[in-house]
Amino acid sequence: MTDIQWFPGHMAKARRQMSEQLKLVDIVIELRDARIPFSSANPLLEELANDKPRLIILNKADMADESESLKWKNYFLNNGLNCIICDSLNEKITNRIVDEVKRILHDKLEKAKARGIRKKVLRAMVCGIPNVGKSTFINNVVKKKAAKAENRPGVTKALQWIRINEDVELLDTPGVLWPKFDDRQTALKLALLGSINDDILDKRELCEFGLNYLKNNYPGILKAKYDILENEGDLIEAIARKKLWLNNEGVINTDTAYALILKDIRNNHLGRVSFERAD
Ligand code: G4P
Repeated sequence: MTDIQWFPGHMAKARRQMSEQLKLVDIVIELRDARIPFSSANPLLEELANDKPRLIILNKADMADESESLKWKNYFLNNGLNCIICDSLNEKITNRIVDEVKRILHDKLEKAKARGIRKKVLRAMVCGIPNVGKSTFINNVVKKKAAKAENRPGVTKALQWIRINEDVELLDTPGVLWPKFDDRQTALKLALLGSINDDILDKRELCEFGLNYLKNNYPGILKAKYDILENEGDLIEAIARKKLWLNNEGVINTDTAYALILKDIRNNHLGRVSFERAD
């Protein structure tokens, strides 16, 4: 999991860098976690890239609830934002991304043509919070190993462009954005899915939040996985007893319970679920 130390000085430097890089591109490809499309956004991008065409990628879609991802896609489209549902790990995505970038920038291309520029190469930059899959996405689109995302903010590196095909090129270094978690719910969702280090949160609260969300939004899912009654008593206790996560005296080993429950949720051992709804 990504561990970031983010200080105000870093923030200012990353912000400067990001706005410099944004000047060079025609489009911003913004990765979000399909399981939490709202909480994995970054308001800074909204502010810095508000005059740029944007393409939202709902990444890790293979882990998210398919019907929820479709609702999210419609939500973004209805709000005038381009959106693609994507599994960067397993799918071949190059053509879909290139076609969508060209479609979004069609008018710009036509204008360039009218001004006599025969072959304008479109430039794109990938942005997103740590661990959302930026490096995986870039490697997939360019069909080779590009640079690993540098999660330390403000690390300067010479800009390099990778040509995807004759029409589109990609900045090889993704823009790392720190997620915004002013409210507790957002922090809990980000920690639950491994986007921020969960050390800053109470593990019991985190587990309870995840289990209660699942219980309320996916009835039967906890029973199917752990063979427990969902509506009676303490869920963590019930799971730990069923799984025999106990010490010699028969007392629940809470650290083990928290760690294994969180692992189950993060690694999709309960199936494809989304932790945020568009409606
Ligand atoms: P980043 O550059 O934005 O920081 O993310 P990166 O590409 O390193 O991806 C973070 C983790 O997410 C990686 O797992 C990667 O394989 C996984 N990932 C990225 N895209 C997808 C996707 O579409 N679907 C699925 N299922 N996984 C995806 P990892 O190497 O195991 O790293 P970690 O989980 O130990 O951090």
